[in-house]
Formats: sequence, C-alpha cells, structure tokens
Amino acid sequence: MSDNWNRREFLSASALGLGLTAIGSAPPKAVGKNRPVVISSANGLRTVEKAMDLIRAGVDPLDAAIEGVAIVEADPNDRSVGYGGLPNEEGVVELDAAVMHGPTHGGGSVASLRNIMHPAAVARLVMKRTDHCLIVGEGALKFAKAHGFPEVDLLTDDSRKIWLHWKETNGKESDWLAPEEGELDPLVQRFSGVRLHGTIHCSALDTHGDLGCVTTTSGLSFKIPGRVGDSPILGAGLYLENDFGSAGSTGRGEANLLNLCSFLMVEDLRRGMAPRDAVIDACKRVASTTKAKRLLDAKGRPKFDLKFYCLAKDGRFAGGSLWAGAKFAVHDGDSARLVDCVSLYDEPLKT
Ligand code: GLY
Repeated sequence: MSDNWNRREFLSASALGLGLTAIGSAPPKAVGKNRPVVISSANGLRTVEKAMDLIRAGVDPLDAAIEGVAIVEADPNDRSVGYGGLPNEEGVVELDAAVMHGPTHGGGSVASLRNIMHPAAVARLVMKRTDHCLIVGEGALKFAKAHGFPEVDLLTDDSRKIWLHWKETNGKESDWLAPEEGELDPLVQRFSGVRLHGTIHCSALDTHGDLGCVTTTSGLSFKIPGRVGDSPILGAGLYLENDFGSAGSTGRGEANLLNLCSFLMVEDLRRGMAPRDAVIDACKRVASTTKAKRLLDAKGRPKFDLKFYCLAKDGRFAGGSLWAGAKFAVHDGDSARLVDCVSLYDEPLKT
C-alpha cells in the first residue's frame, strides 16, 4: 500500500474490487434518490457500465468515471488511450488526461505523461493533492511515481509495428524502407495512412445529482513529442458546473482548443439550452471558425471530425459530431448502449 493511499481509502477500494486507480478516490457514501446517468464516447460501452455499477454502490461520480475509463486505459487494443495507444513520432507513448469534480468545482490534469497507465487517476491527484491544475512531462511522471504509480512500458508490440510502418512510409527522403506489397501485417495495413485523434470522455451524474467528468487519451498518433491536445485542457476537452451539467469532446484537439467547446456547451446549458442544441452549437462554432484552407473541403466544411458529449444536471444528454454516422455510449439506468450522435452535416466524413 502506498503511503499516500491511506488505510480507509485502501479498504473501501478493496471492497469495491478497485486497484491502483483508486489512489486518491473518496470513500463511498449513502445512495441518493436521483436517477443516475453516465455517458461516454463510442469506445466507452464498458466504461458506462462500470461507472454506473459504482455509482449505484455510492461511489463519487468522478471516481466512478475514472474507474470506467481505466478499463480502456488498460486495454491494449484501444489505440487512442493509455496502454497500447499509438506513440509520438519517436515511438514514445505520451498521455494527456483531465478530470473535473462537480461538488467541489475542482479540476486537475496531466499532459505529455510517459510510462503511467492511468493518467486520469494521476489527474485526480493533481486536483486533490496539489495547489495546481496542470502538471506536464517529467514533472508529471515524478508526481505520479511519488504517489505510488508504477512505471510501465506503454508501447505494445502491435502499436510499435503500426508506428514503424508510419515511419517507413512518411517522408520521401527517408532511408527507412517499408516491406514489399503483400508482406505487410494485416493489422498494420489497417492503420496505413491513418492518424488517430481517438480519446475517451466520460461524464457521470450520480444519485445525489452531482457530476464528475474525465477525458483521457494518447493524443494524435505520431505527434511531435510534447504536442498537447484538447483533452487535458479544462474548458476544452472537458468542463462541468455542478448546477448545470458536464461536457467533453473527442476528435481533432486543435480545433477544440481554438474554441473551448466544453466550456461553451456548459454555458449553453446555463442559458437554458438543451444538450442536443448545445452539442450542435459546439459543432457550428468549430465549423465557423475553421479558416485554414488545408482543413476545408471544396464546400468550405472542415475536413476532420470532432465529437461532443453533453450531460445536463436534470439527466438529459446528447452526443454530437460534425459529420454523420457517429455514436456515443450511454447508461441511463436500464442498460449500457450505443446511441446515434446528432450531426451538423447529414453525410459521413469523406476520408
Ligand atoms: N482530442 C484528442 C487530441 O486531439 O489529442
């Protein structure tokens, strides 16, 4: 047991079957009367299920959301989050994550964190155990280790192979040569020419009407080392106000950083907008502020996607995307399921 994980935390975490990710979590409390709701990105079906189970056991909504996304952080087959996430251009996995807690309006985040499987749990400790909101790079790694998180190699063999192929096919003057046609691993083939913005977001509303949210990612694949996206930036990758609602995003982080759409969506809720309208408002904001020609199609529409998730204090929720065809995960009491996002454009993104 880490010195920083006290006996009471350890006992309640053990009773709930939680592991290292529970470092910094609050003890469960009595269950309230409100209907809980958890939403997440499309890769978060197991996330909403886990978070809902924990909320029903009295776990704090932020802690429940962190445990939910921890499943995906540890999943080697999700190439956009945590362990198995695609690395930067030098083959090193760098993670970004942030959390916000409704009742305390606290927030914490880490960026460019290497070798730690659960950056969202570290972000919670930034919120609870420092006077800061954001810690990056080497400092974030030292901070995580000080709190008992073990260092692990986050680059799986499959992710290394996908990165190697990118390196071998990226740049005309390179001395790295790709294998002959037909010799390419089918897994690598699937990712050829693809760069992911991936990410997982989760917003949770508990039985007391309190909110918590988290966004965690390995960021843009093959990024310049040190590149930070929207995920760990409060107001961009996520935001909440306990009296109004919670919001988050996945997709092209740069477009969201330039618009702070999670803050925008919560402001929309504050002004009485429904979540469905708030996510479309965020899409419209991104579409109207994207000016660089290289990012626009012939009709002047963004050539990328960005997805938004919005959960109101009263339990209404929505997912939205620029382009049609996206889904998001929800558990609103009965079961976990994928639901269609509303979209700004009624056709899918042409890739
Ligand atoms: N939205 C994740 C990223 O751009 O890093």
